[in-house]
Amino acid sequence: MRIRGVEIHKGVIGAGDQLALVESLQSVADAAPPFSPLTPRGGRMSVRMTSAGRLGWYADRRGYRYEALHPDGVAWPAIPGTVLSIWRTYGSERRDPDCCLVNFYGKDARMGMHRDADERDFSWPVVSISLGDSALFRIGNLERGGSTESTWLESGDVAVMGGSARLLFHGIDRIRYGSSELLPGGGRINVTLRVVGRDACRK
Ligand code: SIN
Ligand code: MN
Repeated sequence: MRIRGVEIHKGVIGAGDQLALVESLQSVADAAPPFSPLTPRGGRMSVRMTSAGRLGWYADRRGYRYEALHPDGVAWPAIPGTVLSIWRTYGSERRDPDCCLVNFYGKDARMGMHRDADERDFSWPVVSISLGDSALFRIGNLERGGSTESTWLESGDVAVMGGSARLLFHGIDRIRYGSSELLPGGGRINVTLRVVGRDACRK
């Protein structure tokens, strides 16, 4: 399925592979505990998040950015092989992502409309993996505002935002809590894989 250039590969991750992904993401969360970032506008994000890879995505009152260390001061764990194989299938075989952002959605978590624009190099696609409860994914335009289209992302779906869709505004309106039994405590995990670019760490 393709919506505004966003490719949505429905149900491409089988049940066993979904379980293996959850297990490897649990190891990431054990090594780099999830947190709910503050936002530059004075709020706090409703998702809990952590990262794996060379760089982790981070937000606080100073802004949105990539950091080489978890807020506890430790390096982010390596991106699990289970996740990398999905990137290599749907993203690129030419290089691996710098950041594997892991978002944990509880019952009332959502994500406002935004662009993935903190990277230095937009020539690589963003690959997003959905696990657990279904989520209402809204896709907008290259500028904020205007008409939007929505679709439900379900467990095992892979969405790819590349080419002309790389910088589209998008967000998650809500999850359908309890719609999946994959995660023991309910809720949803989204994994977002991104190439940041070589100079990302320079201050
Ligand atoms: C994001 O845009 O960072 C997350 C999207 C999703 O949860 O599917
Ligand atoms: Mn995003």
